[in-house]
Amino acid sequence: MTSYRFLAHLAGTTALIGALALSPVAFAQATNNAPAVAAAKTEVPKDRPWMDASLDPSVRADLILKEMTLAEKLQLTFGYFSTNQTWQVTPIKNYVFPKEGLPDSAGFVPGIPRLGIPNQWQTDAGVGVATQRSPNPRGRTALPSGVATAATWNPAVAYAGGAMIGNEAFLSGFNVQLAGGMNLLREARNGRNFEYGGEDPLLAGVITGNEIKGIQSNNVISTMKHFAFNGQETNRNQMDHQISDKAARESDLLAFQIANEIGQPGSVMCAYNRVNGFYACENNWLLNDVLKTDWGFKGYVMSDWGATHSTTQAANQGLDQQSGWAFDRSPYFDGALREAVNNGYVSEARANDMARRVLWGMFSVGLFDNPVKGDQSSRIDFVKNGKISQTDAEESIVLLKNTPGLLPLSRTARSILIVGSHADVGVLSGGGSSQVYPVGGSPVPDEFAPNGFPGPKTYYPSSPMKGIQARTSATVTYLDGKDLKAAAAAAKKADVVIVFGEQWTGESFDVPDLNLPNGQDALISTVAKANKKTVVVLQTGGPVVMPWLKNVGAVVEAWYPGTSGGEAIARVLTGEVNPSGHLPATFPASIDQTPRPKLEGDPKLDADSHPVSDYNIDGAAIGYKWFDKKGLKPLFPFGHGLSYTTFQLGSLVAEAKGQSFIASFNVKNTGAVEGKDVAQVYVSPVEDSGWEAPKRLATFLKVDLKPGESRTVTLTVDPRMVATYDPASKSWKVAEGYYKVMLATSATDIVQTVQVRLDAQTFGVGTHFANAQ
Ligand code: BGC
Repeated sequence: MTSYRFLAHLAGTTALIGALALSPVAFAQATNNAPAVAAAKTEVPKDRPWMDASLDPSVRADLILKEMTLAEKLQLTFGYFSTNQTWQVTPIKNYVFPKEGLPDSAGFVPGIPRLGIPNQWQTDAGVGVATQRSPNPRGRTALPSGVATAATWNPAVAYAGGAMIGNEAFLSGFNVQLAGGMNLLREARNGRNFEYGGEDPLLAGVITGNEIKGIQSNNVISTMKHFAFNGQETNRNQMDHQISDKAARESDLLAFQIANEIGQPGSVMCAYNRVNGFYACENNWLLNDVLKTDWGFKGYVMSDWGATHSTTQAANQGLDQQSGWAFDRSPYFDGALREAVNNGYVSEARANDMARRVLWGMFSVGLFDNPVKGDQSSRIDFVKNGKISQTDAEESIVLLKNTPGLLPLSRTARSILIVGSHADVGVLSGGGSSQVYPVGGSPVPDEFAPNGFPGPKTYYPSSPMKGIQARTSATVTYLDGKDLKAAAAAAKKADVVIVFGEQWTGESFDVPDLNLPNGQDALISTVAKANKKTVVVLQTGGPVVMPWLKNVGAVVEAWYPGTSGGEAIARVLTGEVNPSGHLPATFPASIDQTPRPKLEGDPKLDADSHPVSDYNIDGAAIGYKWFDKKGLKPLFPFGHGLSYTTFQLGSLVAEAKGQSFIASFNVKNTGAVEGKDVAQVYVSPVEDSGWEAPKRLATFLKVDLKPGESRTVTLTVDPRMVATYDPASKSWKVAEGYYKVMLATSATDIVQTVQVRLDAQTFGVGTHFANAQ
């Protein structure tokens, strides 16, 4: 059988087939103690001095490099797609694939036993250990989607989730996890928004950086991807995203920069698309200038699967490892790279640098010191890991709207009707290479469509309905919602109706619009007409529109909530858990409000066409910044999220400190139940200082408070949040003057504003802040 994914790729098919009391900065500091496995005091073999774990990873890499032949060095730069399937596609019919790759996994790079260099066993992805489509997928724990974890606004939760999936990766025999997805949400229809961290560079950078750090605490390398501007799936292999250096550094690149400082990933995965005319995987500006020179990244750049397009060009412009052969047109970094080095097109120094970077990643994350021991999956504690996933889901669920008295579900309700989305048996997950299969398989076999990549559409066997039944004495019934009349009739009779709305998204396609597909908007409207006490629970990849919003009583955004998602939803609906998720992305009232109302590109374009997409339209003004700039009113703003309790924010004081300022304020739980609030501080220059948007998120904190409890917190603002990037001098500059500092509960709900005067500051492009204060 030939891989579905591989065929889809060849055909160019893009159409379809807890409580935290630490600021993001302080949290980063508190967990900044990787690697987790302290090197055991063992004898260092005389002939392998690089095994001395007390040495700096760069020193160790140099020691081993001295012993390696050119062929061995270059072997580390070439990776295979790893499946147990027979390759039958013409150009690679006679290619010999190594056998040691793990079944149906993303990739494999052979090691060098004579020197003790371990194999690299690579697995997707950001929500857990994925399996390529296979009749026998591994059952593993899935976290909620990336955008859901961003909705927790809780770096501790992101770290714990990363540590959990990294542990499952390690015990599954993998030492490289292709996680760390964080392309900023510029296109609400992007099929992979669910894998990323939302629209704000600070929030996305902090959350993803912590997930990476958690993964790597298991001696498993994490990537950070897709570098960069892989903002949509349509024409992802060709699309050329145009963006200025300044706007880039203040938006998507800033998110990566922050995540890199916090997570210190061993590897960065370059993207499929082009940026300013050049493929991301042979883009001198992105790879050599920004990543390696400006930020001082010492690890290696691996290509996305099929994103390598040349040998000499790619090697010289910064790609260190071609991944996932045979997704590319040619094995560019196999024999051809050796010839390029022999002929001087790629210098020997660069060949050394490529190998050194791979080795640096392996040494720095501990792949030599605590090698994977093969399949130890019987040791995975699924119960414990399920709880970690559930905590993430519970903190990520956003209560968007609530009519007092409707949620949490009243204990006096005698009948609850549940409609749609297979909520009787499970919860939805996102499709594509990141697909994690649940232990026990999907409870909805009929939904195993589309048959090819990015399917099958997979549900996790965690039933919201069973979770609700376990927590109520009401009679709970389920209807699939296909028959509108029957749904309306049943809704009339029920005390409360909960309609589950879903939007399945996946890698390789974008959704055509922001409506719920397959007539679900009509279903919700019909049910809401029949019963005012209608609660809508959404499972979506990202923002959707809600034509029925005015007519329903409550709306809950549950994202793709992971393998314990049904339990998490039930706990939130019944009030066992007080919702505390806040939107990591603006929900527009209509797609016309977004920078590109018409989706760029065309799925029908052939693989050699070069469509262009202008990211200078929004530039660094993404999401709420765009809405502010254009004076638009969204459906729900960035940062929005309700609770079953009430909070009071106040006593804001801002004081200049160091290169930026500190903000102190008080948060009080003024309601009757314990809850977590997400206090947000935004900043804006009083005078025009060349900002691309009126205001920016400066810092945030999730605070857990008992009823009546109040806490005063002081947060330090990363100086880049008040700076603009100056391409000419390659530095960040803070303009002297007054700044408005706004304490808020969302990007549009400002509670208190004070001013602070900042002195002019200039600091180098690569100055590290996320871990430094
Ligand atoms: C995806 C990557 C993934 C890789 C390996 C690609 O199609 O874009 O995110 O890590 O495949 O499966």
